Amino acid sequence: MNVPISADLPGNQTVVVAVDGTSGSGKSSTCRAVADRLGLRYLDTGAQYRAITWWMLTQDVDVHDAAAVAAAADTAVLESGTDPLNPTITVDGTDVSVQIRSDEVNAAVSPVSTVPEVRSRLVALQREIIGSGGIVVEGRDIGSVVWPDAEVKIYLTADPNARAVRRALEAGGADVAATQESLLARDKIDSGRAVAPLTMADGALRVDSTHLTLDEVVDMVVGLVTERV
Ligand code: DC
Repeated sequence: MNVPISADLPGNQTVVVAVDGTSGSGKSSTCRAVADRLGLRYLDTGAQYRAITWWMLTQDVDVHDAAAVAAAADTAVLESGTDPLNPTITVDGTDVSVQIRSDEVNAAVSPVSTVPEVRSRLVALQREIIGSGGIVVEGRDIGSVVWPDAEVKIYLTADPNARAVRRALEAGGADVAATQESLLARDKIDSGRAVAPLTMADGALRVDSTHLTLDEVVDMVVGLVTERV
């Protein structure tokens, strides 16, 4: 199914589409494609948590010491480029889009993300970037905390094996079992943390992508946005 859509929908300039969900559920591919089709900007908030984590690792901050992470939370300058065809992330002016996908960052990002000082800094930055809207934003707490007034809220998930297979393919054929273990470990911390846990926001539509193609999920989200704006 291909939903015909034009990039100049009334309301497109201000709409906020919040897509939350588990690691590897297809959020990034979905959000980028939806933003591209609708002429919207795109923000990957996970990349911001990864970038601040990468910076902490390079500064030898002990990522399991919440006080040390909190003390360092304000130092690095993060910038996110919001073109869905070429999203970028820099730390102090250096492009870190490749480095933030490393195993070291995968292992450290959830503990860093549990620290309230990190979250409050990044939530403020995310709200500034969202500004007057016209954007698709992906993360864990977008519909619940960052932008509860988003016109469209999606909670995207898929079964753990499907998610691990996708992530392992993205990583150039990494081991599926090890990838699944790392995804589940992150899910557990992300869902169990005290501040802004991964949860389905009020008013969100739950989409299980296990048996759907990317195009089917994109069509569904594009359809929802066109209905609401
Ligand atoms: O979407 P991702 O897998 O790249 O996110 C990496 C980590 O960042 C994830 O394990 C939890 C954290 N995160 C978060 O706490 N809140 C967000 N809005 C986005 C990501």
